[in-house]
Amino acid sequence: MTVVEPFGLSVRDQALEADVRTGLSAVEAGLLDATKSEVPFITEAAQHLVRAGGKRFRPLLVMLAAQFGDPYAPGIVPSAVVVELTHLATLYHDDVMDEADVRRGVDSANTRWGNSVAVLTGDFLFARASHILADLGPEAVRIQAEAFERLVTGQILETAGPRDGRDPVDHYLDVMAGKTGSLVAVSVRFGAMMSGADERVVDTLTQYGERLGVAFQLADDVLDIASDSHESGKTPGTDLREGVPTLPVLRLRAMADAEGRPEDLELVALLESDLTDDDRHAEALRRLREHPALEQARKDTVRYAQEARAMLAPLPDCSAKAALEELCDAVVHRAG
Ligand code: IPE
Ligand code: IPE
Ligand code: MG
Ligand code: MG
Repeated sequence: MTVVEPFGLSVRDQALEADVRTGLSAVEAGLLDATKSEVPFITEAAQHLVRAGGKRFRPLLVMLAAQFGDPYAPGIVPSAVVVELTHLATLYHDDVMDEADVRRGVDSANTRWGNSVAVLTGDFLFARASHILADLGPEAVRIQAEAFERLVTGQILETAGPRDGRDPVDHYLDVMAGKTGSLVAVSVRFGAMMSGADERVVDTLTQYGERLGVAFQLADDVLDIASDSHESGKTPGTDLREGVPTLPVLRLRAMADAEGRPEDLELVALLESDLTDDDRHAEALRRLREHPALEQARKDTVRYAQEARAMLAPLPDCSAKAALEELCDAVVHRAG
């Protein structure tokens, strides 16, 4: 199993570092426990991506937010297991939707076992998350249900595309907030809430999480174009191949519309063509990597991360706050 390095955060407070590490190890044990079934094949399929690693970004956020109350309160680790299980389930489903063949550096579940097994394993993971949630109380169940609805709505809106007349960038940002901001916000919210933090602190952290989640997803979309598969554990250009328009492409289209440069219009046409053709796909990826639209998308990502950071201002100064601030830079400058 990949060692879970909390984003290479330079946490200078040893007590905080110890709390986070202890919490994250307990989450690992919780994840393995929650993915065991009486049916060995289900255990194998459900643990496939757990064992493959992943950044454990959401559990890390739970642990950092829990520092604003009692970081050893009993609901913290189970709520971190819930958010990671929910995330994991959406990855099983997402790879079916996106026809992705690689995830966390290994075959996606759909590649290995086909779509039906991947979808049902995702459902199994949701069921296990719900089971743990039940013990965390009705408020936690409601928060999770609302976030899950927003997440699924985001995924559906991404698939459906903007309705007539809607600005594509506005639509895209709504999708980002729904499919990723929602669960990232719940991660910090659960951490703070389960630790018994002050209600205003919980609200502030929730708003921070929402923004951070959008920045994280924007960075992911930039990485889909800019990174190689070694860094990301995924196949680069998957969004392009599937014709999912992400911010770099939307920025390119806006530039092409505004300036009308022939080479930009040509690249737009290439992106709209069938990119399941390997040569065309490689050509599109290469040209987009060199295009200023990618830099523009990077700048947009940094802006969101800065907004997230600014939201932390009302919180009392402490090491956890410094780590959450640092995370804003880490998410946009990550390599994978
Ligand atoms: C991937 O999430 C999907 C997005 C919401 C961007 P992560 O980048 O957190 O994936 P893992 O958990 O590290 O594999
Ligand atoms: C991942 O979305 C699933 C959710 C955010 C719910 P993407 O399709 O954008 O992410 P990757 O690039 O496959 O990880
Ligand atoms: Mg997707
Ligand atoms: Mg995907």
